[in-house]
Order: sequence, then structure tokens, then C-alpha cells
Amino acid sequence: MNFKNKVVVITGASSGIGEATVIEFAKRGADIVLVARRKEKLLEVEKKLSSFSGSSFVCQCDVSNKDQVTEMSKKILDKFGRVDILVNNAGFVIYGKVNELSTEEIVAQMETNYFGMIYCTKAILPQMLEQHSGHIVNVASVGASFGVPGIASYCATKYAMLGFSEGLHHELDGTGVGLTVVSPIMVRTPLFDHPSFDNFSKFSTGISLSSETVAKTIIKASNSSRLELVVPSVARAGIWFKQTFPFFINPIIGNRFRKQLTKRNKPN
Ligand SMILES: NC(=O)c1ccc[n+]([C@@H]2O[C@H](COP(=O)([O-])OP(=O)(O)OC[C@H]3O[C@@H](n4cnc5c(N)ncnc54)[C@H](OP(=O)(O)O)[C@@H]3O)[C@@H](O)[C@H]2O)c1
Repeated sequence: MNFKNKVVVITGASSGIGEATVIEFAKRGADIVLVARRKEKLLEVEKKLSSFSGSSFVCQCDVSNKDQVTEMSKKILDKFGRVDILVNNAGFVIYGKVNELSTEEIVAQMETNYFGMIYCTKAILPQMLEQHSGHIVNVASVGASFGVPGIASYCATKYAMLGFSEGLHHELDGTGVGLTVVSPIMVRTPLFDHPSFDNFSKFSTGISLSSETVAKTIIKASNSSRLELVVPSVARAGIWFKQTFPFFINPIIGNRFRKQLTKRNKPN
């Protein structure tokens, strides 16, 4: 696909996967809208785009706030008149047992990871339908297929995202607008800088990916007819095993991640 002059809106553009995705689209000549809460971080990312041909537009917005999302989409449509690709990537995770997390912490993850995606989709989709073209990429996780101890409420946000996306994917059939979910395994990003991850053995729990690898899959997803791209694709086999033999796989997952959760609770 030729991305030159395509208007690409990326939420969570100030860091990690979002930042890498901004750069991958910019390399391909797209006009980029960078969305996140920290304006100074967005401006730092925008500076890295000076050598690319496309334009950029920084939009400070908390995606969990519906009014801010409405305002953001108005600004984008006033400036560009269209949106070709929306990457719903903003998200965060709080580590801990359900019994330890406050209800507010559980709800906050849903408000950003799930409702943030809903607000952005509802704000931009009508324009895409009017254009008879466009693609929505929702960044979920393999946690959309496994309920993992320590991140139960985060997994719930991604299960919700995947279920919503599957239904919407069917609804969009024949409209010219597409939707694809990108579900990575663990990625080396500041996502795990949240204080709840202190004492968590980051990136040592098997393989992890770079943000650039995921960003390249997001590029592929933005022109794909598939519902979900799992990164790496071999992880799809794990999802198939879990869904086909849950009685066998679930105890293994439970044991593996419970151990990590228990270890974290022990003083060093
Ligand atoms: N890292 C992983 O292992 C991994 C694996 C699978 C899926 N994912 C998913 O990938 C996505 C990106 O995460 P990442 O790993 O790149 O983490 P990250 O480096 O912490 O980036 C998260 C981004 O989301 C933005 N954000 C958070 N809350 C927001 C809000 N309310 N409104 C607007 N922007 C908000 C942050 O910017 P501000 O703080 O400036 O708002 C930041 O740009 C998330 O949805 C995450 O669930 C990550």
C-alpha cells in the first residue's frame, strides 16, 4: 500500500509501540496525527520526523475522556478533512492480584484501554464510512486470549477489545472500511515502568519483542483483511492450544504466572 498523503491517527504516540508506529508510517510518507496526554513527549517524537516528507500534527488528548476525544477528532477533521488509518494503541496496565487492586484501578484500565478505543472509533468511523475507505487498527495483546494471574483486569480490557473488534469487523464488511487487531506478546517498552511492576522480572519471562517489530505488523495490519494478527505469528499456535485444550493449558499458565506473582510479594 502507498501511504503517501494518507492521514494516520495514532493514539499512545508519545512512547513505546506508538512512537515506533509513528516513525514507520512517517518513513512511508504518511501525514501523522500524534495523540497522547504528555504534550512535551509528543513534541519530542514529532522532532524525529523532520527528515520525512509527510506532515505531522500533535493532539494532546486523554482518550478515556469522551469530550476530549470529540474535541480532538474535530481538530483533526478541520485540518485534514479525512482520516485514512486510526491506530487505537493507547493503554496501560497495573500489576497485582485482583484482591490488592482498588476498584478504581481496575475501572481506570477499562476506561483507557477499552472505552478510549470506543470513543476514538465512534469519533472517526462516521468519516471513514462517508469516505467509503479507511482502516482501524486496534492494539490488543495475547492477553486478549489468556486470562493471566496478576493482570486479570488488563486481560479483561483486551478480551473486550477483541470481542468488540470481531463484531465490528463483520459489520464493516462491504463498506470499504476495514478493521484489524494486532496482538503482541511481551514488548520491551515503558509499559512496565508502572510502580506496580517493581520486583517484577521484566523481559526475562521468555521471549520479548521490540516496538519496531510490532510497528511493522501495525503497518501490515492497516491494509489487511484479517481480523487479528498475532505477533509473532507462531504465538497463534499457543492460542489455538489453549482454546482447544483449555483443561490442559490453563493449569500450566496458572502455575507459571502465579509463581511470579507470589515471588513478587516476598521481600528481597
Ligand atoms: N509492552 C507490551 O508488552 C505490550 C504487549 C501487548 C500489547 N501492548 C499494548 O500496546 C499498547 C502500547 O503500549 P506500550 O507497550 O507501547 O506502552 P507505553 O510505552 O507505556 O505506551 C503507552 C502509550 O499510551 C499512552 N496513554 C496511556 N494512557 C492514555 C490516555 N488515557 N490517553 C491517551 N494516551 C494514553 C501513553 O502516553 P501518555 O502517558 O503521554 O498519555 C503512551 O504513549 C498498549 O495498548 C498496550 O496494552 C503492550
